[in-house]
Amino acid sequence: MTRIAVVTGAAGGLGRAISNQLMDDGLHVCGLDIDAQGLRHMVCEGFDAMQVDLTDASAIASVFEQINAEHGGVDVLVNNAGTCFMSEFPDIPADEFDRQMAVNFSSAFHCSQAAVRLMQDRNGVRKIVNISSNGAYNFDVFDPPHYRASKAAMDTLTKDLARRFARDRIAVNSIAPAMTETPLFGVVSQEVLDAAIAQMPHGRAMQPDEVAAWVSFLVSPAGDISSGNVIILNQGRDVR
Ligand SMILES: NC(=O)c1ccc[n+]([C@@H]2O[C@H](COP(=O)([O-])OP(=O)(O)OC[C@H]3O[C@@H](n4cnc5c(N)ncnc54)[C@H](O)[C@@H]3O)[C@@H](O)[C@H]2O)c1
Repeated sequence: MTRIAVVTGAAGGLGRAISNQLMDDGLHVCGLDIDAQGLRHMVCEGFDAMQVDLTDASAIASVFEQINAEHGGVDVLVNNAGTCFMSEFPDIPADEFDRQMAVNFSSAFHCSQAAVRLMQDRNGVRKIVNISSNGAYNFDVFDPPHYRASKAAMDTLTKDLARRFARDRIAVNSIAPAMTETPLFGVVSQEVLDAAIAQMPHGRAMQPDEVAAWVSFLVSPAGDISSGNVIILNQGRDVR
């Protein structure tokens, strides 16, 4: 039976690479994104484009109902949608803080709530992969505090759900990448970007396909025995 994967932020840099990788691995992908135009470019056999604002909990509930009606369950959820707002502390407007937490954390929380219900009757080890960030752990780089906090919250959710659902055979892990070349690079100036890339030990940014390969590994049978881990991908940049 074809496994069903839900990938959030599927129209973005990492989301496209993850969706394409999982389709190559034989999964059917339901791609969720607010960007209708970006989703249209993804449409192909094996990919359902589903436009949804993931900051809206009721819209998330509806889209998962639709997925259940069309596919009868979910085997894999990749919580990848996210962004990085760059206002400097303490001058972060309250609505920017709320939106940062909503896009990066609340979306993953509500998608996980919906997905675990649809995973209950599925076979094998089901998987949740949360795309976190090195920004939650490395304080030398530019990330602002609300972005860091949203990803730290996500990683605590990873551990809670991993423990809570271990005996139900739902494996939950985070992947926390450093600088990966996607449209998100546009949130910082070229100068800040160049300095951050210069800190990468290989002298280059990571590529979306390289991160997607790790998602693929966790989703594969080899990933069945990992749960509750935050996997840091950064070419060894922060080893002390
Ligand atoms: N690129 C990096 O260097 C890097 C590093 C660490 C972590 N990450 C994380 O990787 C994930 C993917 O980022 P990316 O680099 O591919 O960025 P991206 O901007 O290319 O993609 C993000 C996607 O999320 C979607 N999205 C944003 N708000 C949404 C909403 N309200 N509802 C539905 N979809 C929404 C966007 O439309 C976009 O398609 C993010 O969670 C980001 O924090 C990226």
